Amino acid sequence: MGLMLPALVGRAAVRAAEPEPRVLTARKGRAALWETDGPLTDIWGYDGRVPGPLLTMQQGETLEVRFKNELEQPSTIHWHGIRIENAYDGVAGLTQPAVEPGETFDYRIKAPDAGTYWYHPHNRSWEQLARGLYGVLVVEEPGPKAYDRDVVLAFDDWRLDEARQIDVASLGAMHDWAHAGRLGNVLTVNGQPYPRFPARPGERLRLRVVNTANARILTIRFSGLAPHLVALDGQPIAPELLADETLVISPSQRADLMVDLPTEARTFTIEEASGQPFAACEFVLDGDPVARTTPLPEDISLPANPLPTALDMDGALTQDLLMEGGAMGRMSGAMLKGEQRGMRELVDAGKVWSFNGIAGSHQDPAAFTVARGRTVRMPIINDTRWPHAIHVHGHHFKVVSRNGAAVAREEWRDTVLADPGERVEIAFVADNPGKWMVHCHMLEHQVAGMMSWFEVT
Ligand code: C2O
Ligand code: CU
Repeated sequence: MGLMLPALVGRAAVRAAEPEPRVLTARKGRAALWETDGPLTDIWGYDGRVPGPLLTMQQGETLEVRFKNELEQPSTIHWHGIRIENAYDGVAGLTQPAVEPGETFDYRIKAPDAGTYWYHPHNRSWEQLARGLYGVLVVEEPGPKAYDRDVVLAFDDWRLDEARQIDVASLGAMHDWAHAGRLGNVLTVNGQPYPRFPARPGERLRLRVVNTANARILTIRFSGLAPHLVALDGQPIAPELLADETLVISPSQRADLMVDLPTEARTFTIEEASGQPFAACEFVLDGDPVARTTPLPEDISLPANPLPTALDMDGALTQDLLMEGGAMGRMSGAMLKGEQRGMRELVDAGKVWSFNGIAGSHQDPAAFTVARGRTVRMPIINDTRWPHAIHVHGHHFKVVSRNGAAVAREEWRDTVLADPGERVEIAFVADNPGKWMVHCHMLEHQVAGMMSWFEVT
């Protein structure tokens, strides 16, 4: 008997040494989206909140997340922009089975790159994001910071009905699917209708802007401020003053900006101006000014991430991505589940868009296979009347040219906006083995055919 006790203590100690996963539960909740003290809207959120908890981790570290699904619908979590191990990419039907109600799934997120990322479901995304399932993931670079404070600004666009509830009647509306996607009538920042951020005069902020909307391309105006763009989709760029104080950001894109607040106490607003200009949030400056001897632009560039940037354009595998379909488009038919179909049949099946003549679904075979380490060059051709935000999983790509003209800014993105009629060429080193999606991040377009996947072997 005397030997039992030490053995038990020993086992308990071993168990305690294993890191506990961070639990994220998808469940119903309520949020004041309309007015700060206003009516509550029923939402679906991670831990019942919108946005879900802000996850922070260090570059290179591994974060363990146990996803618990307490919804009545299967779901997953996709870690948008993280060059993750394929098994944890969260694509239902491709990298894992959907997590059924009442079940769990353990994700291991190893983040090679610092920057601003986000997470959201990859099953019925068009519905689950419209109901509020998303959160922000910040991967911090090592070392001292060249700014005083981080401020996450997660923008969302909601469609609420008269009762200030999510307009569920229009979820799945073919009109949205064939046009610009589900556009909303209420804008929130961090799940609030008009947040006020207290700040000190003269503070240097790092704004982490995330567009979590289903489909709305946001135009964000920082009137009276001089923000410097320092990263796009998590990846640092050579800092540049934001032209016209205006940022255009498509669904799922992120932009990091550094800004020195004015040194006198005052209030200023940030506007969203994709439609009628609209005040989105406010910074209220108060207290003693922060003393700063070196004003912007001093060196505020972020340390480079370990991206594979040596593109072998001559030895590259070239894969066009031709987009067709949608309202006022020229598409007359497409392949669906291996058979050529006319428009009427496609519409009946909920498909109105195609990639390379295929109205995509997860059941399709791989669009292409590429040997690990090879460069993929992908001209994206938008032969539709609508802009599209094309997202590649598991990799960041370089935007090489637009309409044949080289892109001046060196930018590495995970999502690129292609305007109607535009041809955008991207390239990346396919160095992450597994099955990776390419799709439009206007989520209604994705479900209605703008999806495909490739395999890195
Ligand atoms: Cu933000 Cu395929 O996802
Ligand atoms: Cu699209």
